[in-house]
Amino acid sequence: MSHNTIAINQRMDKFDGHHRVWLFGYGSLIFKADFPFIERRPAHIDNWTRRFWQGSHDHRGTETAPGRVATLVPQEGARCAGMAYLITPEVFAHLDHREKNGYLRLAIDIHFEAGGSEEGLVYIATEDNAAFLGEAPELDIARQIASSRGPSGANRDYLVDLAHALREMGLDDPHVFEIEQHLAQLD
Ligand code: SIN
Repeated sequence: MSHNTIAINQRMDKFDGHHRVWLFGYGSLIFKADFPFIERRPAHIDNWTRRFWQGSHDHRGTETAPGRVATLVPQEGARCAGMAYLITPEVFAHLDHREKNGYLRLAIDIHFEAGGSEEGLVYIATEDNAAFLGEAPELDIARQIASSRGPSGANRDYLVDLAHALREMGLDDPHVFEIEQHLAQLD
């Protein structure tokens, strides 16, 4: 089931009046930056971990056969590494549409790998959204991803492109890499 979050996100006024806002990306926002940005920096956020627990009915699956995409789940002491983008507020119209299937903007401290930190925004699909699928063994997640496709392409490409991007950044993510391995064996 889809759950359109555009209206809720548009009411988010935390950074009103700011000419530039930092956005933290941890999923497709790492490997598919289809929006203008002023600069980007490798970064991380604390106490969140990346999981393929969110259903995708609009990008990598369909209403009847959802795919699985990344969201963040809270985990004390965890660190999620990704890419931070400095953007102008106009870009949020595009991002709210792209992330509309359950993702909400959340204000968060973004720590840059080169040093320093800034408060910014991240899109998170929490467990109470209608498209949330939740925990499953990595092999089952791989099977679902292998058989899913949506308007943005094969679900497999999302997982593989993310795994490649993380590797290129020198990052480890056992959850993502295990699903990638299962996918390769399913081929
Ligand atoms: C993100 O990448 O930061 C959000 C989830 C996604 O669009 O894949």
